[in-house]
Amino acid sequence: MSTRTKHTGVFGPTRAHIDAATLRTDRWWIPPLVTFVLFSAFVIYSTIRAFSGSDYYAKPYLSPFYSPCLGDCVEGASDFGQPFGWFPLSAALIILIFPLGFRLTCYYYRKSYYRAFWLSPPACAVAEPHVKYTGETRFPLILQNLHRYFWYAAIVIGCVLTFDVFLAFRPMPGEYALGDGETSGIHMGLGTLLMIVNVVLIWLYTLSCHSCRHAVGGRLRHFSKHPVRYKLWTLVSKLNVNHGRYAWASLFSVALVDLYVYLVASGAIQDVRFF
Ligand code: FES
Repeated sequence: MSTRTKHTGVFGPTRAHIDAATLRTDRWWIPPLVTFVLFSAFVIYSTIRAFSGSDYYAKPYLSPFYSPCLGDCVEGASDFGQPFGWFPLSAALIILIFPLGFRLTCYYYRKSYYRAFWLSPPACAVAEPHVKYTGETRFPLILQNLHRYFWYAAIVIGCVLTFDVFLAFRPMPGEYALGDGETSGIHMGLGTLLMIVNVVLIWLYTLSCHSCRHAVGGRLRHFSKHPVRYKLWTLVSKLNVNHGRYAWASLFSVALVDLYVYLVASGAIQDVRFF
């Protein structure tokens, strides 16, 4: 054993004394490395977009980073009023805490970023470099226990994003004239399609959450006495198996919708309209 003081985990007194960080010979470092790169890219992109405060609304599409738009938003973007119209910074920052808190405290993401960023541990059967392990029993990690409350907020955000999808079908007054001043009754463009896919993935991610599983089926002594909750628990349990996939897919879809809105709103591309 090295001379460094090591007390816990694989360095605890009851564990075999092995100096190597791991005896694994496979490429165990690939998943944490991929996670590190992708998460970092998402964080950089979303931070820039959230702070920019511009090009987040391209009629009739609203970026999910800015929904609901409760600050001093551009005309047409605020379907729930502007109660924080006095807020001097980007409107995205008003609501960011909810989706961000939900994802940061997610059990799946915790596993991913503990491994990729804190190497705690970087992979199964690979020793972590930290001497002490305190888990999530102290500040700040004890705040991870707020996940259930962020899940409640995520349900509200999911409803708002679903509402945005319906609004994305709106023909805008005076736009899309079919002749003689008529407008088509419905708008359907690539943005609408991306928003539909995004909201489906957001719901799959939100409803496959471990807290959702506990909310619908936890603390029951007898499933037989609660057939509806048992059905819901069974359904959520099936979704829960793929929670990690939904976490990734919805992360990409949120960024993709925002990117599309940005490109259309900034005039870089035109909306691809189907009808
Ligand atoms: Fe991932 Fe709840 S465990 S969102």
